Amino acid sequence: MTDSTSQSKSPPLVRLVGVEKKLGRQKVLRGVDLEIREGENLVVIGRSGGGKSVLLKHILGLMQPDKGEVWFRDKDLAKLSEEQLVPLRKETGMLFQNGALFDSLTVGENVAFPLRERRSVKEDEIRAEVARALKIVDLPNQENKWPAELSGGMRKRVALARAAIARPALMLYDEPTSGLDPIVADSINKLMIRLGDELNMTSVIVTHDMVSAREVGDRIALLHEGRIYCVGEPKVVLESEDPIVKRFVNGISDASDAIF
Ligand SMILES: Nc1ncnc2c1ncn2[C@@H]1O[C@H](COP(=O)(O)OP(=O)(O)OP(=O)(O)O)[C@@H](O)[C@H]1O
Ligand SMILES: [Mg+2]
Repeated sequence: MTDSTSQSKSPPLVRLVGVEKKLGRQKVLRGVDLEIREGENLVVIGRSGGGKSVLLKHILGLMQPDKGEVWFRDKDLAKLSEEQLVPLRKETGMLFQNGALFDSLTVGENVAFPLRERRSVKEDEIRAEVARALKIVDLPNQENKWPAELSGGMRKRVALARAAIARPALMLYDEPTSGLDPIVADSINKLMIRLGDELNMTSVIVTHDMVSAREVGDRIALLHEGRIYCVGEPKVVLESEDPIVKRFVNGISDASDAIF
């Protein structure tokens, strides 16, 4: 299957071309071609261990492809030094799969972290930005709490505020709703949409959660056997009759998936 949506006119923010990556003895990515369009929410689905987190690490420049290219605007990440990657990384926020907060820092200090790394931002400005970010994630005035005092959903929201505080052009979310009850998951979905709209961000969301995929995604891409098997509007992908897509979307396992 190929892209079922019409091509956008503006150039993509990120473009992966024929990306291949071997880790250990396993060929995880086998020629990934994918465009992330400016302003869109692109959802990436695929089986556990299929390489979704590895894909995000390539977009962040944390991993280099063995073959192929990763473009961020007009820059080929593979051609940049660590030093040249620094300004590009500042344009990208990442919500890691285990959303780790620093337990020895308060909520406010956690959220402020990306701004404190930038020496140029003044302390009162940082305080105002932290308050604003916490308000966006519906945790106003929680600066002085400790991560240990928060529920899982609240921790995710603090991690979200921290990832978004520097207003990156691109946000990468790795399993933002995993382990949360459906109501909290729904609030995270709405937050991702709101962040995208209010801060004008492009988002890539890796998820196993089909409700989230349908609600948040402008497009959904299925990573299958190391390639983007299909990409298109949620309705088209989620209601596809293609057996591979259908099997994944409906969560049907076969004998080879059995766990003994
Ligand atoms: N740093 C690494 N070194 C060696 N192998 C790795 C490394 N990172 C990932 N892998 C392997 O690459 C494969 C893909 O991993 P990845 O974490 O991208 O999967 P995933 O699609 O994100 O899975 P999940 O949905 O469970 O998070 C796995 O087999 C994993 O063991
Ligand atoms: Mg993963």
